[in-house]
Amino acid sequence: MIVVNSVKDLREALGAEKRRPVGFVPTMGALHEGHISLAERAVSENKTAVVSIYVNPTQFNDKNDLKNYPRTLDEDLDLLRQVLRKQDIVFTPADREMYPDEDKRVFSFGNLDKVMEAVQRPGHFNGVAQVVSKLFDMVEPDTAYFGLKDFQQVAVIKELVRQTGSNISIVACPIIREPDGLALSSRNRLLEPDIRKEAGIIFSAISEAAGMIKDHDIGHIASFVKSTIEMKKDFSVEYFEIVDEIELQPATRKELMDRGRSYFGCIAVRAGKVRLIDNIAFPL
Ligand code: PAJ
Repeated sequence: MIVVNSVKDLREALGAEKRRPVGFVPTMGALHEGHISLAERAVSENKTAVVSIYVNPTQFNDKNDLKNYPRTLDEDLDLLRQVLRKQDIVFTPADREMYPDEDKRVFSFGNLDKVMEAVQRPGHFNGVAQVVSKLFDMVEPDTAYFGLKDFQQVAVIKELVRQTGSNISIVACPIIREPDGLALSSRNRLLEPDIRKEAGIIFSAISEAAGMIKDHDIGHIASFVKSTIEMKKDFSVEYFEIVDEIELQPATRKELMDRGRSYFGCIAVRAGKVRLIDNIAFPL
């Protein structure tokens, strides 16, 4: 694999005549099997795979979160070496490469940046859209791969592509989990051991909830999820919403759910000092 850290070297590595198709996986590093599953998919479906590693400051609304975000570049490169081929590229830009000037663009995603993560993290998706649109312009991929772990992010990126008229195809990939169900996340390594031991409760609660939709109303399901998780010490549910896949409109009553749409139960939990998100399909 080729490691580059400037846009100039990226362009050179891609070559004027790109070996297409190009598959792209944007990441913020601290890589785990979730990220690697995306890289493997990009490798298997493309002549050239590009993985970017960049902790994007504009998507952090909490300075401490940015400061504490794990940075493990050497380990990341070791992991990528096991899956990337010789022509594949790892792009690790510095801040001045990504933001030579302040990015003042303000995106508007309608309902998508008003619910769930957007409420808890103001400006987050604007920062994601800023960095991803820049990366798309630099890499010019045919396909970009995103994890369903960040369910709302997938909806925002699809809308970004729609709004910009880009023809990059966006592929949403399944969530990779630990044996106890905890969705892999770079933040899991920040969990205290006692909390980590109990963290499987998040997936077991939402899985059980998904099976309840046939016989119970939404209020009942939401309070089941909250009380089940909050039985664990130092766990608190920030939100649990059942939303449709496209507009992320929270369903308030089962009768109003549209059988033609797919619904997902999305959750954010404070587990000690760490904030975890997860989601699961709610088949009607
Ligand atoms: P990051 O959190 O590093 O995630 C990079 C990609 O890996 C995202 O598409 C995310 O959904 C996916 N991912 C994370 N955990 C996963 C899991 N357990 N299973 C499957 N996929 C998983 O998301 C970002 O970075 C940033 O917002 C980014 C898009 C890079 C823009 O800065």
